[in-house]
Amino acid sequence: MKIVVTGSLGHISRPLTEALVQKGHAVTVISSTPKRRKEIEALGAAAAIGTMEDADFLTATFTDADAVYCMIAAHNYFDANFDLMTTASSIAHNYKQAIQQTDVKRVIHLSSIGAHTDKNNGILRFHHLAENILRELPADVAIKHLRPVAFYYNLYGFVDTIKRQGVMASNYGADDQVPWVSPLDIAAVAAEEIVTPFKGRTIHYIASDEPTCNKIASTLGAAIGQPDLQWIVIPDEQMQNRMIAAGMNPVIAEGLVKMQASMHTGELFEDYYRNRPVLGPIKIEDFAEEFAMVFNQ
Ligand SMILES: NC(=O)c1ccc[n+]([C@@H]2O[C@H](COP(=O)([O-])OP(=O)(O)OC[C@H]3O[C@@H](n4cnc5c(N)ncnc54)[C@H](OP(=O)(O)O)[C@@H]3O)[C@@H](O)[C@H]2O)c1
Repeated sequence: MKIVVTGSLGHISRPLTEALVQKGHAVTVISSTPKRRKEIEALGAAAAIGTMEDADFLTATFTDADAVYCMIAAHNYFDANFDLMTTASSIAHNYKQAIQQTDVKRVIHLSSIGAHTDKNNGILRFHHLAENILRELPADVAIKHLRPVAFYYNLYGFVDTIKRQGVMASNYGADDQVPWVSPLDIAAVAAEEIVTPFKGRTIHYIASDEPTCNKIASTLGAAIGQPDLQWIVIPDEQMQNRMIAAGMNPVIAEGLVKMQASMHTGELFEDYYRNRPVLGPIKIEDFAEEFAMVFNQ
């Protein structure tokens, strides 16, 4: 099959590309960075250099594709002028336009947990908007919305606090049970789904493990030689002030804190538990080894 992968050689797209090339598919990888071309070609894929903000570029790249993997890269969280909802909606419209103009009939869309609603999900509302924009495509375009849970790599955000204060702290934590996922487990699901025929519009939650935050703290703590490491819960306002003090766009900080407050109450996970997937193989203990390497660098 001819498959276009967006997201360059990112956390999911690199292993996804490797898996698809290995299965003998003709893969084109979209990157916004010209110097990535050689690295992409070294994997046995073709490189298309351009951005997801450019609908004409996407249309040219999607031409003749049998399937496309669409993700939205919009993470300028420390830019005071960044408008996440507008940027993400505009990219989703670009994907929609390119898919419609090129008559691509199979789409794997990287969405997120929280995309089932526009209420109490904070920044994740952008995934809800994007799903709805793609659903406007003609009914014969098969779309699978992948909804991964929290990525393990978010836990790197705690490295500094552990080093400075000897503790993990957020407006969720302690005995909250939170589903987590490895990008490698997402890539494995995406690689399977994109080559498997399906019809209509479907969703697929993806998770690897469902530990409590206390279990995460003890597991990461053991890996870095701090077996008594705690994950404490701090008030929403304190969390938001910390993010803003670190230079984060205040609207994004508010959205992240709202999302995490919903993780703390469990509301964010309600639809996930109604549509619970089989868990992937990469557990928090596996991630802890990676975490320890980064922590000790
Ligand atoms: N973190 C979480 O817990 C979580 C949970 C659920 C869903 N998600 C979603 O997962 C996605 C992130 O996936 P990921 O970790 O695989 O991505 P990633 O590692 O951040 O990689 C994305 C890559 O896309 C390329 N890129 C950036 N801006 C671009 C643009 N404007 N046009 C074209 N390419 C661009 C960049 O590579 P080049 O420099 O080569 O262009 C970048 O490395 C996001 O949509 C996020 O919302 C995250």
